[in-house]
Amino acid sequence: MWRFVHVSDPHLASTRDGVWNNQFLCSMMSDVMACLRHDLTQVDPDFLLVTGDIVSHRSRDSVIEARDALDGLGVPYYPMGGNHDYYNMESRGWFLEAYDSHLPTPNTVYSFVHKNLRFCVLDPWWVWQDNSLMPFPDPEIEEQQDTDLRNMRWALPPEQFVWLESVLNAHPTMATCLAVHYPVLDIPDRLRQPEYKNAGALENGDLLLNVLSKYPQVKAIFCGHLHTNVITRRNGIAQITTSALPEYPVEYREVRVYEDRMEIHTHGLSDPAFAARSLIPGREYTRGEEEDRTTVIPFA
Ligand SMILES: [Fe+2]
Ligand SMILES: [Fe+2]
Repeated sequence: MWRFVHVSDPHLASTRDGVWNNQFLCSMMSDVMACLRHDLTQVDPDFLLVTGDIVSHRSRDSVIEARDALDGLGVPYYPMGGNHDYYNMESRGWFLEAYDSHLPTPNTVYSFVHKNLRFCVLDPWWVWQDNSLMPFPDPEIEEQQDTDLRNMRWALPPEQFVWLESVLNAHPTMATCLAVHYPVLDIPDRLRQPEYKNAGALENGDLLLNVLSKYPQVKAIFCGHLHTNVITRRNGIAQITTSALPEYPVEYREVRVYEDRMEIHTHGLSDPAFAARSLIPGREYTRGEEEDRTTVIPFA
């Protein structure tokens, strides 16, 4: 058995606090990261999977500062970008520059193998109001994304379908996980509260799932963006959406990988004060229900 850890949406290098579904406290992230560093020494993962929204503030210096904060955890990691990382072409360049030594290839779309598991990391683009697909948002709506994602849309570009299928066709037997910032499956009805702020899912998620149904080696999709713990399943694939580190429940996923299965276990930090500071009473639902916290994903 070996382990990796899934963390998401750390929104580093920012002092901006606000409210999403709970208090969204970027200003506590340096203390959160120090506690996480300590806690990871107990879990001893082989690597971290960081599913996007790594940085919040829009500058090259912030991207480097966020990279340094991740490096400070002392564990190898695989980064990917989210809507807060890729908001113009320049920011995409900063991402590639900052994570040069962490990316297997100098690309935001990549694949790697660790022991008995393959990972494919995807990079959805933005759907503009005229339905064109672009690697950065419509400048008219980009500024509002700190507070409101209602007009934001994302989809996987056709080129990445071609790339993904070429990888899956070439390696049909090894259990494979996808990793992508945006959920492929939308949040299930059971977790939708009347006031729930839904950050959204991939617009062509159903198409992606139809393609994946041809590839039974794909077992799981790891994602973030919702700032909520959710585990959903379709066509034999489990989607693990992990909550954001600056927001209740301030948790991470430990993934135990065996020869015949993966197990997902969800943990809060050893200092519960971060989660307590963020919680708005009545909005505990971002923690997920029991089925969103622990599950077994068989490989056979
Ligand atoms: Fe986020
Ligand atoms: Fe996001």
